[in-house]
Amino acid sequence: MSILLLGGSPATPSSSGRLLQHIGDRLAAHGHRTSSLRVRELPAQALMLADVDDAAIQRALAAVATAHAVIIATPVYKAAYAGVLKAFLDLLPQNGLSGKVVLPIATGGSQSHLLALDYALRPVLHALDARQVLPSIFATTHQLQWNEDHGLTIAPPLAARVAAGVAHLSEALQDHRYNNIAA
Ligand SMILES: Cc1cc2nc3c(=O)[nH]c(=O)nc-3n(C[C@H](O)[C@H](O)[C@H](O)COP(=O)(O)O)c2cc1C
Repeated sequence: MSILLLGGSPATPSSSGRLLQHIGDRLAAHGHRTSSLRVRELPAQALMLADVDDAAIQRALAAVATAHAVIIATPVYKAAYAGVLKAFLDLLPQNGLSGKVVLPIATGGSQSHLLALDYALRPVLHALDARQVLPSIFATTHQLQWNEDHGLTIAPPLAARVAAGVAHLSEALQDHRYNNIAA
């Protein structure tokens, strides 16, 4: 089962990107196959002009199409998710997440917009026909400590949510595999 780590921040370094990688590493340690796609690395003009004939955009769309699960990470920007992520999601076909398990994650400057994932991003993921959108994971930047030598350290309450998210995703993929074998 393959999991796509979709980074939706225009920034680098990126807090949401670091949390995404941390979760991806945890899933890889559980034996899952992961790959990464950062929206900021797509050609800006092709992204903004919705040029789906662009080769890099086509590779990105194929990466989504072939994944069994997608973890979508975004910063909270202006009480919603990042515009560059929306620009990319707009390029997917209407059923572009059909049959997939999706785990939304976000980082924000404070808890004020904790619900941004649920009121802004989640409806879009359902509109794209995701099979299952798991409970989202939100972190404030204060809960993430970065050290060049030791990498990312996350605060205990967030660590518990990450562990639950990893378990949910693993279970959902297990169900997916079972249903496909049974079908
Ligand atoms: C343009 C901009 C808008 C932001 N708007 C919000 C906001 O509305 N609410 C919030 O909690 N944080 C907001 N932030 C803070 C970011 O969500 C936070 O720093 C986040 O961790 C950045 O993630 P990134 O490093 O992956 O881009 C904003 C930051 C920027 C640059």
